[in-house]
Amino acid sequence: MKKSLGLLMAVTLMSPLAQGAETVDPDYLAFLQARGEAPWINAAADHPLANTAYRPLPPLASFPADSVKRDLGFDLFHDASLSRDGTVGCNTCHMGMRGATDGRAQAVGIGGATGLRNTPTVFNAAFNFRQFWDGRSFDLDAQSLAPITDPVEMGHDLDTVLELLKTNPNYVSKFAEAYPDGVTAANLGNAIAQHTKDMTRTDSPFNAHLNDSANALSEQAQRGWTRFNELGCVSCHNGINLGGNSYQRLGNTPDFVAAVRASALTDEGLARRTQRDDDRQVFKVPGLHNVALTAPYFHDGSVATLEEAVAQMGELQAGRQLDEQDVDDIVAFLGSLNSAFFGGGMRGMTAEQLPEAMRQQMPDAMNHEHGGQMMQGHDHQQMMQGQGNQHMMHMQQMMQNSNGTTNGTVDAGPADESAADSSHDHSNHGSH
Ligand code: HEC
Ligand code: HEC
Repeated sequence: MKKSLGLLMAVTLMSPLAQGAETVDPDYLAFLQARGEAPWINAAADHPLANTAYRPLPPLASFPADSVKRDLGFDLFHDASLSRDGTVGCNTCHMGMRGATDGRAQAVGIGGATGLRNTPTVFNAAFNFRQFWDGRSFDLDAQSLAPITDPVEMGHDLDTVLELLKTNPNYVSKFAEAYPDGVTAANLGNAIAQHTKDMTRTDSPFNAHLNDSANALSEQAQRGWTRFNELGCVSCHNGINLGGNSYQRLGNTPDFVAAVRASALTDEGLARRTQRDDDRQVFKVPGLHNVALTAPYFHDGSVATLEEAVAQMGELQAGRQLDEQDVDDIVAFLGSLNSAFFGGGMRGMTAEQLPEAMRQQMPDAMNHEHGGQMMQGHDHQQMMQGQGNQHMMHMQQMMQNSNGTTNGTVDAGPADESAADSSHDHSNHGSH
């Protein structure tokens, strides 16, 4: 008895020492200490609103950019040959048209493999402090390589991809121009990240409102913004991305979450990276720019409408049932975070209405000669040459991505975009 108590005390006394002697996983330390991409997330720190919960997005042109890397990244982002069976590119799942998502609950990669999580937008992802729902990538350079090797996304291995790129004269010369050491994994990640950064949109009514008090918000959106503040949504969805800058627990207790959305408990969240029980149910707070375009919602894609997503957040995070008026007003506010680039009304249009709507947004130079037809591979190739206008490029990306959506609305599940995408040989179109 006495002896075992003594032993117990000895063990208790020793345990801090034992812990101190433990070697800490250097990867884990680096993970905890990572800060994301400072120049991006600190953007607009001098703006008068920087000391409030909100921070306007500065124009894209004010960020450091290298046009050679960016163009290389554009090619890579749209190149399905980075996947094992040549059918899946980044843009298969991150389609400009759909707010850079895929409109599915869970992503579908090579061979129809279904992933675990919903595809988040890459628009404005450059402002996230880390990437992925569980924030497991420190920055976009690291993030960009992950889908290539993910077995249910592009399913390839990096060495083979690098060898492949080295056999493509177009890539070899572009890599050489952009990086002294040419085709390497780090440079591949960096180039793709440049394109992702280029997918930053700053032209929303809310941003205009913040930037120059332009009175760009409707009365309803204003009301929604007020409620967003009063209900405490802003305590997590704040800063330049209205989110993307912290980890937070979804709901307070597992029982509480289970009552509202049981599917959320099957994902380990941050614990998947840290292996700590405390990190279950913990996710990176998603940014909310363009959120009205990225249904379905949440990491599990379990919620089809923004109304329902807002109502669930009210329950899980603010602990109350929002009335219909609050939900509608907040949804109107969230709608003001849509980039004007998407023309607002495109969401919900039928495939028949879309091409015309898109064409009306196109600069004249692109408009003529294409008649009533979608741009074909060859036209696309010609258009890509000799023009550096990023806006036009994105319009093309959107045009491209709308191929294959032959029935249903934009919000319906995609038909065969991956096939449509891979029919363009992006690796071959020469320099632009
Ligand atoms: C099969 C569909 C699919 C493909 C292909 C794909 N992604 Fe994703 N992407 C996803 C899903 C799903 C997630 C979320 C995964 C997670 O959090 O675990 C994601 C997350 C991201 C994020 C993080 C955004 C955020 O807010 O955290 C970025 C950036 C991104 N992808 C860029 C890319 C790039 C670049 C490529 C090509 C190299 C690519 N994706 C290929 C489905 C896809
Ligand atoms: C305690 C932090 C916190 C608060 C408060 C909070 N949220 Fe969230 N929000 C999150 C997290 C974490 C997620 C991701 C949850 C998931 O994927 O299951 C999220 C997701 C969302 C989404 C879905 C985004 C997407 O791309 O799928 C919307 C919309 C949203 N929140 C709106 C709101 C509104 C409106 C409020 C106020 C009623 C609110 N949030 C309050 C942390 C919070």
